[in-house]
Amino acid sequence: MEVFELKDVFYLHPGERPALSGVSFSVKDGESLTILGANGSGKSTLLFLLDGLITPRSGMIKAFGRDIGNGLLPELRQRVSILFQNPQVQLFSLTVWDELCFGPIQLGLVKEEVTKRAEDVLHLLGIEHLQDRGPWNLSGGEMKKVALGTCLITNPDVILLDEPTTGLDPRSQVEFIELINSLRDAKKTVITATHDLDIIEDISEKTIVFGENHRIIAEARPYEVINDTGLLLDANLIHAHAHKHREIVHSHGHYSAHSHEHLMDRIMAESPRSPMASGGKNEIEKLRILLDHWIEHSESHRDSYISWAEKMEGIGRADVAEVLRKASSETQEVDKLFRKAKAML
Ligand SMILES: Nc1ncnc2c1ncn2[C@@H]1O[C@H](COP(=O)(O)OP(=O)(O)OP(=O)(O)O)[C@@H](O)[C@H]1O
Ligand SMILES: [Mg+2]
Repeated sequence: MEVFELKDVFYLHPGERPALSGVSFSVKDGESLTILGANGSGKSTLLFLLDGLITPRSGMIKAFGRDIGNGLLPELRQRVSILFQNPQVQLFSLTVWDELCFGPIQLGLVKEEVTKRAEDVLHLLGIEHLQDRGPWNLSGGEMKKVALGTCLITNPDVILLDEPTTGLDPRSQVEFIELINSLRDAKKTVITATHDLDIIEDISEKTIVFGENHRIIAEARPYEVINDTGLLLDANLIHAHAHKHREIVHSHGHYSAHSHEHLMDRIMAESPRSPMASGGKNEIEKLRILLDHWIEHSESHRDSYISWAEKMEGIGRADVAEVLRKASSETQEVDKLFRKAKAML
């Protein structure tokens, strides 16, 4: 069963500013989808439409099999929750506790059930210590957790998350990702707008990419999107950065070393079947290119080991963190060996 189905949807903000142009896609029940796009490409606007907060200028939107273009379905209010990009717009009560209880009270739940749900959510998000605080005096990350709590407490079937990990510390980011995955395990439909390329593989099985023309320019599996440098450059999600490796010049995106490594894999796949065919010259040249590449990127790899060590420490895995920190310090040694090998060629 499809939770959402959109056909040729257009939306314009006041001043006839286009935000979505000819958007068509569908989301199945229990599916997890990420929406990628540069600033201003239309991600938040799309989530507002899916939450029924605004209606399209033209085109069709079906939710739970029924057209919502001309008015809100009561089902939408009950079954869909949205975490706004800016949690401040979501919070209005005097205390975090009241904030959490508001939704369940509106649903008409009895007092005991409301209390139980609020306690569960405080525990789930690790924010028990905030329950008597005013939502307005919280830090950005704390506010985001409380806002997420207000979404989860009504036990919706569909959760719309707008930039959920932005502004969170590394430990909270990992916790949010785990939480999104536990929602997926519970068969919830989760739709996440983000420009964080590092998380889309962790939290979704399908990614929609918006171009700056507010149109969908790709719909694919997250790993396909991450490895499509041309697509990411087109969407302005990475910046081009030209490199020269001896006679081979290529450009690649600079958010991670992945696509670069694939390119080097391709160079290696193109090696002659018999390395001795050219007296080994081709192999020497290719190894030189690879050594240059390894040396050039070892610093970014080292940074990545350290950042993952911090994340692991954040979730109580000091054992893994220790090994990653060791890998980071040993990278310098490995670097020296690469330089030595290069000098020998
Ligand atoms: N309230 C508004 N009034 C007028 N134009 C708006 C309004 N909100 C958004 N826009 C415009 O609509 C377009 C899409 O905005 P939207 O907020 O959906 O983008 P986004 O992909 O979520 O961007 P970001 O990554 O910065 O959050 C942009 O050109 C933006 O300037
Ligand atoms: Mg946005």
